[in-house]
Amino acid sequence: MKTLFDRTSINNIQLKNRFVRGATWENMADSEGGVTDRLWKVYEELAEGQVGLIITSYAFILKEEQPNSGMLGIYSDSLIADYGRLTDMIHSYGSSVIVQLVYGGSQTLYKPEQRVIWGPSAVPEIGTGVVPKEMNKEEIKILVGAFGDAAFRAQQAGFDGVEIHASHGYLLGQWLSPLHNCRQDEYGGSIENRSRLLVEVYEEIRRRVGPDYGVLIKINCQDFVPGGTEFADVLYVCKELARHGMDAIEISGGILAAKELCAFRPNINCPEKEAYFEPYAAQIASETSIPVILTGGLRTMQVMERILEQTPIQYFGMARPLLAEPGLIKRWQKGDSMPSKCRYCNKCRTPEGNVCILNRD
Ligand SMILES: Cc1cc2nc3c(=O)[nH]c(=O)nc-3n(C[C@H](O)[C@H](O)[C@H](O)COP(=O)(O)O)c2cc1C
Repeated sequence: MKTLFDRTSINNIQLKNRFVRGATWENMADSEGGVTDRLWKVYEELAEGQVGLIITSYAFILKEEQPNSGMLGIYSDSLIADYGRLTDMIHSYGSSVIVQLVYGGSQTLYKPEQRVIWGPSAVPEIGTGVVPKEMNKEEIKILVGAFGDAAFRAQQAGFDGVEIHASHGYLLGQWLSPLHNCRQDEYGGSIENRSRLLVEVYEEIRRRVGPDYGVLIKINCQDFVPGGTEFADVLYVCKELARHGMDAIEISGGILAAKELCAFRPNINCPEKEAYFEPYAAQIASETSIPVILTGGLRTMQVMERILEQTPIQYFGMARPLLAEPGLIKRWQKGDSMPSKCRYCNKCRTPEGNVCILNRD
């Protein structure tokens, strides 16, 4: 019988349990996207707290594109040494760690007058209204290369793998969406075409890191906005990525304009509200042969045990519960199975750093 504390592996990533820290922007990196003492402490608490696989905050891959303040960067070789120290520390606790790679795009507070913002098509982002520059073939090549370079740096820095961020309305997710991708060339139209860039990004990363390195993707099951990406297309994309050799898929959902149907839904206070993407993740897990991580609204061991028993979903990602309690997994492991203390109030984001209200001084 499977348990939440089984030791497993994803490609060569060793996992001492099935709990994953879903990527969480901490707003604590320095202005260059580098590791600070505060960030070090965040990761040490997670590792000390026995999280099996830690996924970092999203990290920007092109220096000029940093989509948000205080996020990690992985755009330059000069960042490798500090990451090397961070990954050594995390490994010393027996946890694995991968870095999440992102290009933000037009779901942004920046304006096109302030910087170049790339998108699949020059159409307004449904939430922000920002009209990006439609990427030409040369820019596509630069982007694909930047993902490959970033993954290679991650490998040199001792990360156990990388996760491609294609969810929540950022650039790579937009290419799948008929709402944001209106291209007439081989990257637009059919889902085969709309997913072409994602496959190219995956292939380039794989070419740079080799077959034995963990490459994961986080993808929306649906965008939950009219005209956005729908589940049938996502299922197709997941099967394609599995066929190409992707090691695992993390299922999330919703872009920011989906509001209450976004990735971090509020007020998860009973088992019925938990695990809101479970049906989609279960279907993807049963129709692809690769491991699936379910993320969003997980709160109790009981719900995760039930999902593990009844579906082919193998891993469980949490973001807010681990902001509230970095030691949650250790507590559960010790036998205290009380639910996460997170109130799912979504007050974790502050200009001074993303810290749970339960942990503010
Ligand atoms: C403060 C905060 C920052 C987040 N940053 C990221 C991020 O960098 N990358 C990402 O893929 N998701 C990010 N998310 C979304 C989470 O990874 C996760 O998908 C979502 O919060 C649902 O999981 P939860 O219910 O366990 O919080 C963030 C969520 C929060 C609350």
